Amino acid sequence: MRKIIITLDGYSSCGKSTLARQLARELNYVFIDSGAMYRAITLYFLRAHIDCADTEKVIKALSEIALSFEYNPVTGQSDMYLNDENVESLIREMVVSEHVSEVAALKEVREFGVTQQQLMGKKKGIVMDGRDIGTTVFPDAELKIFVTADPAVRVERRFKELFEKNPSITIEEVKRNLEMRDYMDSNREFSPLRQAPDAVILDNSNLTREEQLQVALAWAKERINA
Ligand code: DC
Repeated sequence: MRKIIITLDGYSSCGKSTLARQLARELNYVFIDSGAMYRAITLYFLRAHIDCADTEKVIKALSEIALSFEYNPVTGQSDMYLNDENVESLIREMVVSEHVSEVAALKEVREFGVTQQQLMGKKKGIVMDGRDIGTTVFPDAELKIFVTADPAVRVERRFKELFEKNPSITIEEVKRNLEMRDYMDSNREFSPLRQAPDAVILDNSNLTREEQLQVALAWAKERINA
């Protein structure tokens, strides 16, 4: 059966990664969470106190970063590694969420991310989620899905997820962070979040995980058999 590239783009916390992971499992494809890559770069920048305005330092820092995904047999999912350190949990913390949009907007960071993501898709058979995957990373992807959900639903979902790990987090904090990231991700100069003209929209505000999977799977099978 022919292998295709499936891209999922959309605003923060609209369930892209969950759907992308499920789709990849069903199709026996590789799932890549491109946001995890920008989060890992941000973690490195925070630890090394890199000033985003200092292009020379940014370039040097990027030359010191190696990113990889490794399968975790306990969770059955791939974890993000930054220079051989498992940072899967650290990159989900609020401090990273607060800085990731600033780091991800840098031209050098985008070139770094996009080049690696394109290499990962060379053999096809990949599901990648992010903000610019259907527009910049894989403009020729066979299936592009633009995922949306009501802002209130997104805040609630993200809050539940974060509250489990950090009960001191407030819903206002989560809402502010999502609004800030959506604004910055959509208004940056390089690779802004955009719906590709040939993307299909999936609004999952009122869909269960299983329902959204079935919708996306039907689209995928249609394209695979085209
Ligand atoms: O998918 P996520 O929320 O974990 O992504 C974290 C941030 O990374 C997001 O706010 C913007 C950035 N990002 C990006 O600029 N381009 C991508 N392809 C994926 C994520």
